[in-house]
Amino acid sequence: MQNIYDNNKFFNDYIEMREKSINANNLIEKPIFLNLLPSFNGKRVLDLGCGFGDLCSLAQNDGASKVVGIDISKNMIEMAKQRNDEGKIVFLNKPMEKINELNEKFDYVLSSLAFHYVENFNKLINDIKNLLNVNGYLIFSQEHPIATSFTPPKNKNIDSKIDIENKRYYLISDYNNNGKRIVHWNIDGVIKYHRNFSNIINTLIESGFCIEKIIESYADDEIIKLEPKYKYQNDRPYFLFIKAKLIEKNIS
Ligand SMILES: C[S@@+](CC[C@H](N)C(=O)[O-])C[C@H]1O[C@@H](n2cnc3c(N)ncnc32)[C@H](O)[C@@H]1O
Repeated sequence: MQNIYDNNKFFNDYIEMREKSINANNLIEKPIFLNLLPSFNGKRVLDLGCGFGDLCSLAQNDGASKVVGIDISKNMIEMAKQRNDEGKIVFLNKPMEKINELNEKFDYVLSSLAFHYVENFNKLINDIKNLLNVNGYLIFSQEHPIATSFTPPKNKNIDSKIDIENKRYYLISDYNNNGKRIVHWNIDGVIKYHRNFSNIINTLIESGFCIEKIIESYADDEIIKLEPKYKYQNDRPYFLFIKAKLIEKNIS
């Protein structure tokens, strides 16, 4: 598994981007994600790929009885401990591939924009199922499969998008070829995993989850006013959001 957020150049560029008020996290991802969240009062919450801990802090301030944040990156966990109330939130520097080592149950498992870094989605969802109480929820966002699928041809410098009359047209390929993608994002060699829509949905269903809500990111007029390039969200969404309830424990 790759720990790209502990590459200092990547980390510094990422934090610089997150500190700006206008970015896709603040304007697009966060508002949709927060809208999917229930009250956490008295609930036990686990955040996978917690980054610098904003979701953990939100759950704690909302009255959660226990909050655990897990992240593979030391940089992120150190920052999370500095920014948040470490006494009340447990931050663990651990890959989510190892959550089967956790010896406790949760009512909510959250994850914002981290699942596309995990290779074995089936195992991840099965491990989450084992940590959740029945009727507990998994609420996550990830890069949208329509955005993760494309692999540019080797040694060819092609533009994967063109703008015509106020619309953006994208190249798409390899949509049904699930697996590793190596992309340039801040630095070369960032590894992500593409899974088509049916693979994501069927993995959840086959693990005993009932899908309550799916959202594909969009930008309304207010957001487009703040950052005009987000109008292209309406041509191709960046993010996918799923809220799923665990209704059945005994499906393998
Ligand atoms: C795009 S950031 C999102 C951070 C945070 N969830 C937020 O929304 O602010 C992705 C996070 O996932 C973490 N991550 C990536 N792969 C991981 C893995 N295998 N296990 C745990 N965390 C991982 C990264 O270190 C990073 O902090």
